[in-house]
Amino acid sequence: MESGAGRGGILYGAAAREIPKSTDNVVTVKDELVIALPKGRILEELRPLLRSAGIEPEPAFDDSSSRALSFATNLPHVTIIRVRSFDVATFVAFGAAHLGIAGNDVLTEFDYPEIYAPLDLGIGKCRMVVAEPVELAPADDPGRWSHVRVATKYPETTRRHFAARGVHAECIKLNGAMELAPRLGLCRRIVDLVSTGNTLKANGLVEVEHIAQVTSRLVVNRTALKTRPDEIGGWVERFREVILADAA
Ligand code: PRP
Repeated sequence: MESGAGRGGILYGAAAREIPKSTDNVVTVKDELVIALPKGRILEELRPLLRSAGIEPEPAFDDSSSRALSFATNLPHVTIIRVRSFDVATFVAFGAAHLGIAGNDVLTEFDYPEIYAPLDLGIGKCRMVVAEPVELAPADDPGRWSHVRVATKYPETTRRHFAARGVHAECIKLNGAMELAPRLGLCRRIVDLVSTGNTLKANGLVEVEHIAQVTSRLVVNRTALKTRPDEIGGWVERFREVILADAA
């Protein structure tokens, strides 16, 4: 982990971990708190939120050429890990991270009982949809489907969505670039996230059914919340205040 003096004289990690000594010489060092954040586009929206919450990662966090995965912050006991969005949920569910930020697309897909998602951060807004080739759509009626084959990152969510209206969904799991699947004959339809719609358009696809609205949530490990209620509950409240202040 990189650490030391950073921008604007802020101290990170070990350098910031100057142990505060009280007058009676009792040394208090808090246990490490690990926050899991997702890689990718969402980070841009996340940075101002972190700053408002008082968390300033070390400079390597913003350096796309850095291969670091774990980052010290200006808060001596707070470490950030940067992982794939699906893995945020897994790190938090298993208690390897105490807090995290994850979209409800990921939370719904895993449905981990160990994760508590108390706060909608209102960032990372997009939608989960079914899409198909533009030339197929005019003559197609999703209401008449009894069986559908789709490529998706979200097989569980997709199966549940279609099962609720009696449609059997056969899911081919992909981890990205779903939009290629129809053109290459893997399947005619995909279930994926849409934000601007540019990726669908660039690949000759159109949205034919809406599945869910997606935003990012602050998530916490339930056991961590029970064992460190003041600290972790305090972070939830701090993020809540930031969101409320932004909305005001
Ligand atoms: C997401 C999603 C689409 C794209 C949609 O992928 O899977 O491919 O964004 O965005 P748009 O509607 O603004 O074009 P992302 O870029 O997050 O990469 P991924 O495929 O690695 O998930």
